[in-house]
Amino acid sequence: MARILTLTLNPALDLTVRLARLEPGEVNRSETLLTHAAGKGVNVAQVLADLGHDVSVGGFLGEANPEAFDALIASRGFGDAFIRVPGETRSNIKIAEQDGRVTDINAPGPLVSEQAQAALRDRLEMIAPTFDAVVVAGSLPRGVSPEWFQGLLEQLKDLGVRVALDTSGEALRAGLKASPWLIKPNTEELAEALGHSTDVISQLHQQGVEHVVVSDGAAGVTWYSPDAVLHATPPKVTVASTVGAGDSLLAGMLHGLLSGDTPEHTLRRATAIAAMAVTQIGFGISDAAQLARLESGVAVRPLTEQ
Ligand SMILES: Nc1ncnc2c1ncn2[C@@H]1O[C@H](COP(=O)(O)OP(=O)(O)OP(=O)(O)O)[C@@H](O)[C@H]1O
Ligand SMILES: [Mg+2]
Repeated sequence: MARILTLTLNPALDLTVRLARLEPGEVNRSETLLTHAAGKGVNVAQVLADLGHDVSVGGFLGEANPEAFDALIASRGFGDAFIRVPGETRSNIKIAEQDGRVTDINAPGPLVSEQAQAALRDRLEMIAPTFDAVVVAGSLPRGVSPEWFQGLLEQLKDLGVRVALDTSGEALRAGLKASPWLIKPNTEELAEALGHSTDVISQLHQQGVEHVVVSDGAAGVTWYSPDAVLHATPPKVTVASTVGAGDSLLAGMLHGLLSGDTPEHTLRRATAIAAMAVTQIGFGISDAAQLARLESGVAVRPLTEQ
């Protein structure tokens, strides 16, 4: 069991509304309305907890609507390293119709003040060294600059803690300057941040990013470690929802790496955990037997680096 902190700087409250068919401009009646605490780091935390790790969650949380997060933190026994900020955590509304169409309406989050940003840095200075790894995942909230974000990752690195980064765009570009221990972009995010040149991976390795885990949806995952390049193809599964697939993959990779598992099994299980996420509306390890079946359906093969 490892001690892992996940940071979500811009968490969201996911509101999923189910209805037969959306009639814009009309009064619609929903079948169900589900609210849950979300955000990439919060998702990673839940999968890590399912895998038996001692997990804390942190970042910035709006103080006006903390209930769903407080309930999750209490029920999962997470350590709480969130800095409360004035205003509401943003809500992301998903309108799911019977035919499978999903309409997303995403709100902006609260503006995070310099004072709150300093409070998070101070908190991390004290607690980060007590963790085996810190996961930093998701987008930047309003008020937080890419430069500040780079400084946060550099601080964590200077404190001697392994940093796993999953973000995109400007935040990914800024974060990479701090050379985190592990990154998990998808193919588009990596190309968008660094371009398509063939030596992107070796440049990352040279600058000190040890593990580059590139996900590619149903086509699987390529893991460029310092020693080898491995590719995993997931088994064919029926997709219920891809929410949390990338977060599940990241949690699975951390699990294997921090448990000292073999690279082959680390990637195999992480790929199975991600495949399991897509078979569910939510994500997480609900059924150990199903996970074992999925694991045996993953094909892992070595690739020779170009
Ligand atoms: N249809 C699928 N069938 C099986 N496995 C899948 C499927 N889609 C995704 N996965 C698994 O989940 C992993 C992560 O998916 P993806 O590359 O889409 O991540 P992502 O773009 O970061 O997603 P997100 O951040 O939205 O969760 C993939 O590498 C793969 O192992
Ligand atoms: Mg992702």
